[in-house]
Amino acid sequence: MRNFLSINDVDSLSALLLSAQEIKSDRFAFNMLGKNRTLLLIFFNSSLRTRLSTQKAATNLGMNVIVLDINQGAWKLETEYGVVMDSDKPEHILEAIPVMASYCDIIGVRSFASLTDREGDYQEKILTQFVRYSGKPVISLESATRHPLQSFADVITIEQYKKRDRPKVVLTWAPHPNPLPQAVANSFAEWVRLADYELVVTHPKGYELSHDFVPESHIEYDVEKAYENADFIYAKNWSVFDQTNYGKILSKDMRWMVDSNKMQLTNSAKFMHCLPVRRNMIVEDSVIDGPQSIVLEQASNREISAQVILKEILTSQF
Ligand code: CP
Repeated sequence: MRNFLSINDVDSLSALLLSAQEIKSDRFAFNMLGKNRTLLLIFFNSSLRTRLSTQKAATNLGMNVIVLDINQGAWKLETEYGVVMDSDKPEHILEAIPVMASYCDIIGVRSFASLTDREGDYQEKILTQFVRYSGKPVISLESATRHPLQSFADVITIEQYKKRDRPKVVLTWAPHPNPLPQAVANSFAEWVRLADYELVVTHPKGYELSHDFVPESHIEYDVEKAYENADFIYAKNWSVFDQTNYGKILSKDMRWMVDSNKMQLTNSAKFMHCLPVRRNMIVEDSVIDGPQSIVLEQASNREISAQVILKEILTSQF
């Protein structure tokens, strides 16, 4: 594995899941693999889980870790090519990337969608430049369109809890006060299809995701019907993908909040969310605090997913 940006970088999901089991049973078994190797984590956006779990995973492998918050203490970066640099951004990403890359062996990048420029977001303008100009393996820590370390942790978690080979997994939009990217939902759908689970996506009309991630045949607009016989309910908010209203909020329809009444329609489904979560907007307290909630296990598996991917890259690239 050279980079980890999407499912396109995965040769075999079953091999990655086996590696996850191996690491879970002894996460320090490969603690010399990363000796004298440095991981640089670059955050254009805030993070709790991704920041901590990826640092921990790298440390388990014996790596050194440097963390850089671009908006706190670093020079503001210009990311557009050909502009006159007379704004408040004194450094261009074209110099910054190779400079940062010269101090490390692997780079992790978090760069969210702008939600104003759909074409630029879906071309992954920032992440692509890191791949092109760093000369180093690049790991997505959540990009404009995907969050693969989260999705891989989600699949690890589903494998732990599933009661049948091909569980019914429902991805439900849920209301949120602010416009959020589609990355987690896109990525989750992509990984659920790779794992060959049954995928049903439910949301109010107008919140259709790109058909590259969720073909129309997987959508169920009747939220209660979607929940029937579900094994996993995965909640996430996202803003509009459609060009006309890209990045906007169309509704905050509370019928899509995950509540105990709808959970009763399921096959004793487990409740999942990538966190952070808005209680009593996305999910009722009684559900997230109840025995069906596996959100903390999901978050814990972020260390495992990051360690599997770092191990893959260290083994194949150095
Ligand atoms: N789920 C997740 O990526 O959390 P953070 O934004 O806190 O990293």
